[in-house]
Amino acid sequence: MRKNQTSVTAMGIAIARAVESSKPAPARICYDPYARQFVPAWMYHVLGFFIRSGYAELRGPGVNGFLAARERYIDDVLSGFIAAGIQQLVILGAGFDSRAYRFDLSGRVKTFEVDHPATQADKLEKVRRIFGSVPAHVTYVAVDFNTQSLADRLLSAGFDPARTSLFIWQGVSMYLTPAAVDATLDFVVRNSAPGSAIVFDYLYREALEEAGRQREVGNMRRYRFMTGEGLTFGIPKGTGEAFLLARGFRAARDVNAADLKAAYFRGPNAWRAVVNGYGILLGRV
Ligand SMILES: C[S@@+](CC[C@H](N)C(=O)[O-])C[C@H]1O[C@@H](n2cnc3c(N)ncnc32)[C@H](O)[C@@H]1O
Repeated sequence: MRKNQTSVTAMGIAIARAVESSKPAPARICYDPYARQFVPAWMYHVLGFFIRSGYAELRGPGVNGFLAARERYIDDVLSGFIAAGIQQLVILGAGFDSRAYRFDLSGRVKTFEVDHPATQADKLEKVRRIFGSVPAHVTYVAVDFNTQSLADRLLSAGFDPARTSLFIWQGVSMYLTPAAVDATLDFVVRNSAPGSAIVFDYLYREALEEAGRQREVGNMRRYRFMTGEGLTFGIPKGTGEAFLLARGFRAARDVNAADLKAAYFRGPNAWRAVVNGYGILLGRV
């Protein structure tokens, strides 16, 4: 991504969340009451119109369904880990993720938001505007995953490897180098107490290689000149669990489009597609 520019994809995802969250409760897959406040009003209205009118679905069939279901699935994973008593939450490549503010973590779960310096500076300004101040339970850590050491930055910010932690890494791995992905997973395995875990989505390598056939991947390539964020990393379909076990995780679960569709798309959402190009991995330490 560009050095001094807020992540454009982070804004796009926040807009998709905001549009989903504006639907009545029975019609929405996920709910993020803050998403809209993290994006400029004009952007919400323009891009929101593309989503609501069905144009976005035409350009990238099933992408919005996947974004909503990914948010919901990771929310459900987080709820489970909070109930199990995790002590730390680390949101990697946080963008405008609002889980640190919409889950009841204060006083119980020390939370770290890790992001590229440019996006994080913008997020902090918005957090102050929305909530009046920066919440005491959240520590903000600026890191470029591709060039800086997550270990140095997170440990010096007060992350405690002896505590149980959940790492959320949503919508980030596909923009990194394979070396940066491995370094991040290695940090998690080596610096997390038993009972810790990471949940993250990834692109199927086949989709990366066949960008012409996977429409939304082709679109991302086409608009790279605007976003500065290119898709660079993928894991071959069907090998996600083995990928994590080979990197030292003790157990892994790989969720695909069909799993998400079966779990969340009922009633008024039964018709919606979920793009078949991504998996979501849960790796346990
Ligand atoms: C698609 S956005 C996802 C944001 C957020 N996780 C969400 O799901 O709403 C990608 C995020 O990864 C971050 N990112 C991309 N490349 C990065 C890098 N090299 N180092 C640190 N963060 C990076 C961006 O700043 C952005 O916040």
